[in-house]
Amino acid sequence: MARTDWYKDMVFYQIWPRSFCDGNGDGVGDLWGVLQKLDYVKSLGVTGIWFSPLYPSPNADFGYDVSDYRAIDPAYGDLDVFDQVVAAAHERDLKVVMDLVINHTSSEHEWFRQALADADSPYHDYYFFRRGSVDRKGRRVPPNNWDSLLGGSAWEYVEALDEYYLHTFDKAQPDLNLDNPAVRGEVEDVMRFWLDRGVDGFREDVITFVSKPQGLPSDVLGLPGSRGLRLYNCGPRLRSYLMQFRRDVLDSHDCVVVGEAPMLGARKALALTAARRGERPLDLVIGFDHMQADCMYTEYLPRPFSLRKLKRAYAQWQDALGESGWCALYLENHDHPRVVSRYGSEAFRAESAASLAASYLFQRGTPFVYQGQELGMTNVRFDSIEQVPDPQAHAHYRRVVEGGKSPEDALALVNRAGRDNARSPMQWTGEKDAGFCPKDAHEGPWVAVNPNHVEVNVAAEDDDLMSPLSFYRRAIRLRRLLPVVRSGRYHEFKRASTKLYVYARESTWSRLLVMCSFSDEPVTFHVPDTYGDLGGGVLALSNYYVTDAEADDANQLTLRPWETRVYVFGRDAVLVD
Ligand code: GLC
Repeated sequence: MARTDWYKDMVFYQIWPRSFCDGNGDGVGDLWGVLQKLDYVKSLGVTGIWFSPLYPSPNADFGYDVSDYRAIDPAYGDLDVFDQVVAAAHERDLKVVMDLVINHTSSEHEWFRQALADADSPYHDYYFFRRGSVDRKGRRVPPNNWDSLLGGSAWEYVEALDEYYLHTFDKAQPDLNLDNPAVRGEVEDVMRFWLDRGVDGFREDVITFVSKPQGLPSDVLGLPGSRGLRLYNCGPRLRSYLMQFRRDVLDSHDCVVVGEAPMLGARKALALTAARRGERPLDLVIGFDHMQADCMYTEYLPRPFSLRKLKRAYAQWQDALGESGWCALYLENHDHPRVVSRYGSEAFRAESAASLAASYLFQRGTPFVYQGQELGMTNVRFDSIEQVPDPQAHAHYRRVVEGGKSPEDALALVNRAGRDNARSPMQWTGEKDAGFCPKDAHEGPWVAVNPNHVEVNVAAEDDDLMSPLSFYRRAIRLRRLLPVVRSGRYHEFKRASTKLYVYARESTWSRLLVMCSFSDEPVTFHVPDTYGDLGGGVLALSNYYVTDAEADDANQLTLRPWETRVYVFGRDAVLVD
């Protein structure tokens, strides 16, 4: 079957299953809960769902440590209910994309158990086991100087084998050796397994890390904390492995391949997603540059938010990918704090949620909306580190305390940067447990709900035309309606402004002008000359009531706090008039 590029017209909704909806009352989100909420997902106007891992997992990294690639974690359901979810999603014209974690498995995966039990087992070479050395003082030294991205060495010593194994993340996540053809064969079987069950593609976790350099050399130039990364990020055989998966499996299915690509520049993103000699390793990539507008590489190295930095990252990606490449557009996922608390304003929560939505939904690429983002959910605040579930937060907390900071400072950092900000239960109602658990549930939610669920919830926002939820619905419909959003060139105005983000999408027959305030104060805005007095355009979307006098014939506007407006000109304007 020929592959098409339907993904370019999609809008995805990401479900992090543990915190979406608890259907069976045990306090943990599950697929029964998802079944109940598919109509809600559909009501957003999205066209597909990406499920964060549903596989059995000991939860050292909440699903990103997979112990069985061909089953569903019993906490989430089983293959029967998964099949029901896929069928029910397809009945609603929603595609289903699975997470695929192949850089590493769980240390409790059967392959790793066998590898540990017997150095002669074929599974031993599924991972990177190496001997270390002993220094002059008799101390054991790992095989190279690579760092785990969570801190400490990337090597864990196994006494019984007198060998180390490589883990670029947690020691409970040993790296798979994709240089072994048998491992690539296993990956292909896993892909076939899920494609045969009807899924429409994969979001491939840290896929750009999977090819390690021959000989695993030490990284003498790398920065402490990320030594090794330079050598295996977009490693030597990445392209060839991805093309093998294409040829052997993916090309014969009508599916999408989304690659998560941390620390990858826009030029490399282009190389992975633009066709070259008939090869296109990935359909779209999830880049991270725009996630660094308030931090250095990770939210755990915070910096003051810079709108100019954010806009520069957007422009770099939009310009570099142009008409040939393709990227995911996103503000939130399960790995980042809530964007309203981050780049927006909790004081102007609804307004800033909407302005942030318009700031990315009309760019070129495929938008992803993360559960609760459409409500303008905000960060949670934990009172003590014991309440924080994410092991990554604990690793950073320890590092900060060991570095001499107080426990209070370390907790403040976790509260600002932690991934649990995005993992608190979805807020369905203002009632007990935010309606996340059924009313007669035996257990409360596995992690505390945000106290602001009394105001910020689906039930309240559903009926409110000015709520973030209503705005997201309108914006997503508008995006899907307008051909200029699929193909128009990206053009940015007011690059130097620290309060406004203004961009246009322009094609031969139509133009779209998007204005987003990033300020708690009113901001005056001179409409670019090429858009005259806006008189020829249709105001298609806004987050404040705009009177006719304000909307028409104005070449100077005063935007209210976090106001956003989207105008359409030319042929596409007929579609919204
Ligand atoms: C990706 C996932 C993240 C996980 C990491 C290691 O970045 O999104 O949640 O911790 O990979 O698998």
